[in-house]
Amino acid sequence: MANNNCRLIVIDGLDGSGKATQSKLLAERLNEKGFKSRTISFPDYESDSSALVKMYLSGRLGSNPDDVNAYAASSFYAVDRVASYINTWRKYYEEYDYIIADRYTTSNIIHQMAKVPEPERQSYIDWLFDFEYNRLELPAPDMVVFLDVDPVISQKLIFGRYQGDESKKDIHERDFAYLMRCRDSAVYAIENLGWVRIDCTCNGEIRSIEDIGSDIFSLVADNS
Ligand SMILES: Nc1ncnc2c1ncn2[C@@H]1O[C@H](COP(=O)(O)OP(=O)(O)OP(=O)(O)O)[C@@H](O)[C@H]1O
Ligand SMILES: [Mg+2]
Repeated sequence: MANNNCRLIVIDGLDGSGKATQSKLLAERLNEKGFKSRTISFPDYESDSSALVKMYLSGRLGSNPDDVNAYAASSFYAVDRVASYINTWRKYYEEYDYIIADRYTTSNIIHQMAKVPEPERQSYIDWLFDFEYNRLELPAPDMVVFLDVDPVISQKLIFGRYQGDESKKDIHERDFAYLMRCRDSAVYAIENLGWVRIDCTCNGEIRSIEDIGSDIFSLVADNS
């Protein structure tokens, strides 16, 4: 039986928005306050379960994100999650006070719902929730935090990481028009699914890691 007291907090956002940085910081702060917390991260690139995700992102199934439809690509990410749930983090979910997820089912909404026509969005969400939470029995998040960074700024952060070498980007990262469609999907989720938006920029600049982290910590503490 899962421990119903464990809260699953998802940190999501566009590529390079600071998900890994903020997930780690949030877990550290919760631990400092005496809560038992840890992070999980998706895709699980260390595991063979991410093989199809790697094929997709590297362009071996097509060089454009739309070459693999929303439902097929979503299933690649979902099976990776369920394999890691069974093998590793189901036991954390039973033991910990907080699990902080760097991306989750929510990333399918951002990156895959972007591929479906607007009138089909709710039907895609119904399908995804039924598939991941009911059929695959993955836990539903207690809170979803969306790190909102202007895509122009997040692209710069990614650019820094790859030292300007465009060839190192995956098929999502190198398609700016697609990234903007992903942002529209996230806005839909903020407006309709109760995701909490954290504005990570101020006057056209990214806010400090500490500032953003304090907002997220307050949000989680106020809702616990
Ligand atoms: N608030 C911030 N200010 C400045 N730099 C930041 C900030 N947050 C993150 N970074 C830096 O930006 C880069 C991307 O951050 P991070 O890896 O946390 O993002 P991510 O959302 O997990 O990225 P990806 O989508 O590629 O997995 C890193 O080099 C990180 O140190
Ligand atoms: Mg990351």
